[in-house]
Amino acid sequence: MVKICCIGAGYVGGPTMAVIALKCPSIEVAVVDISVPRISAWNSDQLPIYEPGLDEVVKQCRGKNLFFSTDVEKHVFEADIVFVSVNTPTKTRGLGAGKAADLTYWESAARMIADVSKSDKIVVEKSTVPVKTAEAIEKILTHNSKGINYQILSNPEFLAEGTAIKDLFNPDRVLIGGRQSPEGLKAIQALKDVYAHWVPEENIITTNLWSAELSKLAANAFLAQRISSVNAMSALCEATGADVTEVSYAVGKDTRIGPKFLNASVGFGGSCFQKDILNLVYICECNGLPEVAEYWKQVIKVNDYQKSRFVNRIVSSMFNTVANKKVAILGFAFKKDTGDTRETPAIDVCKGLLGDKAQLSIYDPQVTEDQIQRDLSMNKFDWDHPLHLQPMSPTTVKKVHTVWDAYEATKDAHAVCILTEWDEFKTLDFQRIYDQMQKPAFVFDGRNVVDGNKLRDIGFIVYAIGKPL
Ligand code: NAD
Ligand code: UGA
Repeated sequence: MVKICCIGAGYVGGPTMAVIALKCPSIEVAVVDISVPRISAWNSDQLPIYEPGLDEVVKQCRGKNLFFSTDVEKHVFEADIVFVSVNTPTKTRGLGAGKAADLTYWESAARMIADVSKSDKIVVEKSTVPVKTAEAIEKILTHNSKGINYQILSNPEFLAEGTAIKDLFNPDRVLIGGRQSPEGLKAIQALKDVYAHWVPEENIITTNLWSAELSKLAANAFLAQRISSVNAMSALCEATGADVTEVSYAVGKDTRIGPKFLNASVGFGGSCFQKDILNLVYICECNGLPEVAEYWKQVIKVNDYQKSRFVNRIVSSMFNTVANKKVAILGFAFKKDTGDTRETPAIDVCKGLLGDKAQLSIYDPQVTEDQIQRDLSMNKFDWDHPLHLQPMSPTTVKKVHTVWDAYEATKDAHAVCILTEWDEFKTLDFQRIYDQMQKPAFVFDGRNVVDGNKLRDIGFIVYAIGKPL
C-alpha cells in the first residue's frame, strides 16, 4: 500500500487529501499538523473549515484510509510521498517585507523531513511558492541526506474556496512539475498514477519544476487581473452612466475573452491573490525586471483603489460623515460559501468606516464574532503571523457589534452595506428592513446582488458597483 503524508491540515491540505483518500482506497493518507485544535477539529463532527460537500467526503474515509494526526514525525517517516501544504504568507519583516513569500514554515517542514526520513521519498510542493523554491528545498533535504534519494515535485493547487470539493473532483487540470532526469520522470509518473484514479489523463499536465511553480503564480495573477480590469471599468461606468453588468456581459461574449471572473465587486479578497501577486512582483524585481513588476503591481493598486472608493462613496453619500451612525454590514467572508476572512475586502471597508467613527453591526452566516474582532485588530499581512495579534482597542470594541441575523443588524441602521454575495441576501425582505431603518435609508451593494430598482421603489437610496446612480 502506498502511503501519503500531507504536512499542513489547512484549507488546501484537508480537502485535497480527503479527496485523494476517497478516490484512491488503496492509498493510506495521513494529514498532519502542528496545530492541536485544528487536528482535533478534523477528528470531530465540527470540521475546522466550512466547505460544501467536505463533511460527506471526510465521513466516508476517516478512520479507513484517511487519518488526521499531530504525530508529524511518525507519519512523515512512514510515507512514500510527502505533500507539503503549509502556509506561505507575505513576509512582514526584514528583506522583502510586504512582498516576498515567508518560507519559514516551509523550511521548517523540509528540515523535519530531512531529520526523520530513513527511506527514499517524493516530496511534493503543494503550497504556492516562489519559482525556484524546489532548488532551495533540494539543498535542505540532500544536505546530510544519509544516502536517501529525494525527488522534489511541484504540484500546485488550483481549487477555489467554496467550490473546493467540486474543483478537486473535476479539476480543469492537474499540474505536476519535476526534474527531467530518469528519477525525476519516475517520480512524476508516481504522482500522476495517484491522480489518474479519477482525473482523465489529458487533464494531467507535466512540466519542468520551474514552469509548474511559475504557472501557479501566473494563474492567480491572470485571474486577479481580470477582476481589477472589470473593477477599473466599474469606476468608468459610474462616471458615464454605463452599466458594468452589461459591459462585462458584452465583453465576455467574445469567446476569446470568455464570461468567467468578470463580476465587478468591492474588491477581491482571499488568502492568495494579493500575496501571490506581491510575491510575483518581488521575483520580477529580484530578476531585474522592474517594468514587469510595475505591470502586476497595478492589479493590487486597482484593488486597493476599489475598496477605498467604496468607503468614500458611503461617507460622501451620507452627507460626508458616518460618525455615530449605525451601519449594517451584511457579509464579512471574502466570498460566499466559506467562513474564511483572510484578506476579505470587508476588513478594509470596516476599518475605513470605523476611521470615520461609524458604529458597525456585522452579520455573516459563517463568521464568528471572535474572528471578526481578531480581523479588525490586526495590521496588514499579520493575519498569518499569529504572534503579531494585538487586542482590539476599547473604543473600537464599543463600535463593532456582531449579530446572527440580517434583520437585527439592520434595525435602526442608517445604511446597509453588502460585502459578501451570500445567496440569502438576495431574498431578504427589504420592505421590512426599510421600515425599521433610519431615514433616508441607504443601501451600498458591494457585490451587485440586489435589484437596485426594486429597492429604490421601496424608498432606499441605492449605490451599486458600476451601476448608474
Ligand atoms: P492554512 O493556513 O489553512 O494551512 C496551513 C497549515 O499548515 C496550518 O494549519 C499550519 O498549522 C500548518 N503548518 C505550518 N507549519 C507547519 C509545520 N512545520 N508542520 C506541520 N504543520 C504546519 O493554509 P492554506 O490556505 O491551506 O494554504 C496552504 C498553501 O496552499 C499556501 O501556500 C497557499 O498559498 C496555497 N493555496 C491555498 C489555496 C486556498 O484556497 N486557501 C488554494 C491554492 C493554494
Ligand atoms: C483563487 C483561485 O480562483 C484559485 O484557482 C486558487 O487556487 C486560489 O485563489 C488560491 O491560490 O488560493 P479563491 O481565492 O478561493 O481562489 O476564490 P475566488 O473564487 O478566486 O475569489 C477570489 C476573490 O475574488 C473573492 O473575493 C471573490 O469575491 C472575488 N471575485 C471573484 C470577484 O470580485 N469577481 C469575480 O468575477 C470573481
